[in-house]
Amino acid sequence: MNEKLISGFSKLTKQEKIDWVNSHFPSSELENNETDFTAFWLENETIQEVIDGFSENTLSNFILPYGIAPNFLINGVPYAIPMVIEESSVVAAASSAAKFWLSKGGFKTKVISTVKIGQIHFKWEGESTLLTRLFPEIKEKLLQESKRLGANMVKRGGGVTDIELIHFNHLEKGLYQLRIKFETVNSMGANFINTHLESFSKSLKNFFDSSDSLSAEDKEIDIIMSILSNYTPECLVTASVSCPLSQLKGIYKDMDETTFALKFQQAVRIAEIDPYRATTHNKGIFNGIDAVVIATGNDFRAVEAAGHAYAAKDGYYKSLSSCQIENDVFTFSLTLPMAIGTIGGLTHLHPLAKKSLSILGEPDAPTLMQIIAAVGLAQNFAAVKSLITSGIQEGHMRMHLMNILVHLQASETEKNIALEHFTHIPVSFAAVREFLESIRSK
Ligand code: MEV
Repeated sequence: MNEKLISGFSKLTKQEKIDWVNSHFPSSELENNETDFTAFWLENETIQEVIDGFSENTLSNFILPYGIAPNFLINGVPYAIPMVIEESSVVAAASSAAKFWLSKGGFKTKVISTVKIGQIHFKWEGESTLLTRLFPEIKEKLLQESKRLGANMVKRGGGVTDIELIHFNHLEKGLYQLRIKFETVNSMGANFINTHLESFSKSLKNFFDSSDSLSAEDKEIDIIMSILSNYTPECLVTASVSCPLSQLKGIYKDMDETTFALKFQQAVRIAEIDPYRATTHNKGIFNGIDAVVIATGNDFRAVEAAGHAYAAKDGYYKSLSSCQIENDVFTFSLTLPMAIGTIGGLTHLHPLAKKSLSILGEPDAPTLMQIIAAVGLAQNFAAVKSLITSGIQEGHMRMHLMNILVHLQASETEKNIALEHFTHIPVSFAAVREFLESIRSK
């Protein structure tokens, strides 16, 4: 076997894994062995063990900044919002948008629906009308089963709420689906849903196997797979901000409020028309959303996947937010799916996720959905505002410059001189290094 391949890697201890990686994949010249995996281990071994247990073949922790965006007023409640993100300017932008809207009533948010979906995909070669006739009996059996399986969830107000039979055999011969609707209350519900689906799929097979009224051929059902759907267009939240145009006065230098509002609306409209712009526009929304989703121990891939699918629900990909100006009132709003939880998963296992939920006042899942949507809207507002006024590079480049200065170990005095120097000069790593060398040699 090639020496860079290995069997039994997972069985090695953490240190053995590191040694194997270091000896078989030596550092590049660029990295120059500067990074020691163990330097990022936590001193608290109990917590480190918990973190190691989230994943497999763990060598170290990959650290990201954990920041706070204060001054969010959401439905009249003030929040300081934890955000985990590596991109500069995002937390600053969310904070400045929060502060801007604070004096104008803050964010209004609402949960529209909380349905999650699970699917059992199966093939059955019999007459589709026969399947339609059998379905009510199948549904009843599965609903009964779910009362037993999900007794605890039912007590908390959740469980299976409906089951539909979906015919796909006009697209693929013999293909059907049971689409099962769940209410999972405060949990994201992935385990609850998948456990149900796997149990239901066995019962479905059993129903056909043991049915006396079916011919031998009709008894044959092939369960292809059972899994939740990350598309949750009925688990929706909406957030909006609104103010009279007059309150936008002075928002940017000498730009008047009507010019600002119309330009803003035009920018959002572009993202409703052009998928190239819409993707970037929505990416800006997810800068805020993902940061809170991660900080609260939720699954950002699931939230992103659902959001982008929802953005294409009308047959083409478009902006998740929209802007109206009516009767001299400016309104900016965002509606998107948000399948998250405040119990289960990592939410109380990851110490910082637990801390985030505590900072947010131990919200239930619907409240967290609304908080996250408000941050997405704030982020989008800040990005579009910058784009139609100063451009985003001004702020970005300042942060970029600071990162380079930190990397080059600039002193506080050097940082101040450099910040002044690069006010009107393009920032690049080489330019900053050269500038520092020049002032250091003086
Ligand atoms: C950068 O991460 C996000 C933006 O590109 C979003 C946008 O263009 O709306 C600034």
